Amino acid sequence: MRRREQAEAQPALRLSPRAESAPAAGDQRGDMGKFSRRGSMWRRLRRLFFWLMLCYVSIPVIIKLFPAIQAKLVFLNFVRVPYFIDLKRPLDQGLNHTYNFYLEPEPGFRIGVWHTVPSLLWREAQDKDGLWFESSLKSAKSVILYLHGNAGTRGGDHRVQLYKVLSSMGFHVIAFDYRGWGDSDGSPTEVGMTSDALVVHEWIKVRINKTPLYIWGHSLGTGVATNVVRRLCDRGSPPDALILESPFTNIREEAKSHPFSTCDHISCPVLILHAEDDSVVPFHLGKKLYNLASRSKSLSGHKVQFVPFDSSLSYKHKFIYRSPELPHILSNFLETSLPQM
Ligand SMILES: *[C@@H]1O[C@H](CO)[C@@H](O)[C@H](O)[C@H]1NC(C)=O
Repeated sequence: MRRREQAEAQPALRLSPRAESAPAAGDQRGDMGKFSRRGSMWRRLRRLFFWLMLCYVSIPVIIKLFPAIQAKLVFLNFVRVPYFIDLKRPLDQGLNHTYNFYLEPEPGFRIGVWHTVPSLLWREAQDKDGLWFESSLKSAKSVILYLHGNAGTRGGDHRVQLYKVLSSMGFHVIAFDYRGWGDSDGSPTEVGMTSDALVVHEWIKVRINKTPLYIWGHSLGTGVATNVVRRLCDRGSPPDALILESPFTNIREEAKSHPFSTCDHISCPVLILHAEDDSVVPFHLGKKLYNLASRSKSLSGHKVQFVPFDSSLSYKHKFIYRSPELPHILSNFLETSLPQM
């Protein structure tokens, strides 16, 4: 009923009072003006539609033709969220026990690194220089090398929140920006990300004794983490554990070719964390990764654990740090994955 009333009311509305009362002489010109105005609007709309169609058709073609653009879309390193944070001042992010410094993977080529000490040391860490932070690693109980995902920097909020959780558990956390990210030089490549991670790993390794060193990757960073761990295992110096949060199975093709299936080189305990409601990397891929890992030959004899987080918790792709269970899950995993002597 109401709908018909509206339809009936419309013609009346369209009769503009101006047209009704316009003098006869001006009438024609006014009408013509309106007509051509409407015509030009149509033309504009048609043009807009044309451009939209063109984009719709050509963007996938361009991306296919130029893998560099595809890589950009995968890396999203040009997205800096939040844009205005000063990576030289971790304190601005509430990290009062974090030191910012730079490493040179190649001469004249710098990448930015943050070292967060266990939060128990926060008072002691005030106004300390790089030397103090560096030597604090000598007496570290355990260290985590954190490999972040795409988009944003080492100062991204969900990352900072995780450093806080881990440092409150007593870990030293080393996080850095790959080349092309944050304030690091260069532009992103998969090979570059892996070699930067190896450089930071080496930097840590020579500063700790037999301290356990764990590698934690998130999202795209899990691809880097598996690359790095594979290399370390090949060299005979595997990390003490590999932790994969919301894992991407392969940087470019997601699940198609898989580090655990194609290359049986990873031999250390593996913990996989994945939220069921992850809309960036689907949950079933994490599950699949676990199935492959638990069947992998090189991983036999090592603990491989998969921890799903219920959708009702809404942790999605990057909020697993919010889980009050996380410290317990992590310490339980690490304790039970110690090599059996
Ligand atoms: C410094 O950081 C620690 C650990 O996160 C926190 O417990 C403490 O309250 C912070 N201190 C100040 C003054 O913000």
